[in-house]
Parts: sequence; structure tokens; C-alpha cells
Amino acid sequence: MAASKPDLYRDLAEELAALLAGETDGTANAANMAALIYHRLPDLNWAGFYFRQDGELVLGPFQGKPACVRIAIGRGVCGTAAARAAPVLVPDVHEFPGHIACDPASRSELVVPLIEEGEVLGVLDLDSPLIARFDAGDREGCERLVALFVDHHRRLPR
Ligand code: SME
Repeated sequence: MAASKPDLYRDLAEELAALLAGETDGTANAANMAALIYHRLPDLNWAGFYFRQDGELVLGPFQGKPACVRIAIGRGVCGTAAARAAPVLVPDVHEFPGHIACDPASRSELVVPLIEEGEVLGVLDLDSPLIARFDAGDREGCERLVALFVDHHRRLPR
């Protein structure tokens, strides 16, 4: 029987914590997090990161088809989430003005920013080929996963 959404995200949070434990490399951890999400959440065609660099978003580790590399803050769903420093849930990307179509199969999208002490470090972007694939439960679940990732790296010695 399929797990309920809260159960699924609780399991994912445990699995992510185990993957991050003891590893300090941000690229490796982001790559494993993208792979975990892509393979454990149903009906995704893309899952990955954009990280903020010099005032724009630059493609990070992901699973899915090759994607656009640079996104200006404020552009597309990713740039909008970064500019607002808040998650953006788009039930139908065709209805979102300025949506950047990396994979034409994408129909709905959820973007959750990575925020540390008020600063947007980047975004986690999930795409689905299904309309309205994501709901508030996914947003909350992904916010929890992103918080785990940010908190893990914040605690590392610099
Ligand atoms: N659709 C995104 C661009 C990134 S891809 O979906 C991987 C956007 O509008 O920002």
C-alpha cells in the first residue's frame, strides 16, 4: 500500500539525514538529495538545485533532462521563489507568466528556496509531467527536507 504523504516525507527526512550524516561536501550532499527525491517521489521528471552565484541562479546537482544553466533572480518559477524568498507552487506551468520551459513535458512545478539567516542560497526545484502534482503537503515536506540540508551545512566548521 502506498504510504500517505506525511509518512512519505517523514521517511524521506530520515533517509536524507542518514545520507548527509558525516559528509561535509555540499555538491555531494546536494547530488544525493536530488537523487533521493527524484527516485522516491512519484511522478517527477526533474528534481534538483540552482545555487545563487553573483546575483543569479546557476544550475547545481539534479536528476532529469539537461536544464537551462543560468536563471536571473525574478525570472521563471525558480527566480520568482528566490526573489520572494518563499516557496512557489505552480499547478499548471502554462498559466505561469515567464515560466522557463527546460523540459516541455513539465506541467506543474514546486520551488522551495534555501534560506540561511535571511539570505537565499539557492532553490530546490521539482517538476512533474502531471498537472497539479504538488500540494501544500509537498510544499511542507520539501521545506522540511531543505531545512535539513541548510541546517546540516550551517553547522559544519568553516
Ligand atoms: N521551470 C523553471 C526552470 C528550471 S527547470 O524547470 C529545471 C523555471 O521556470 O524557473
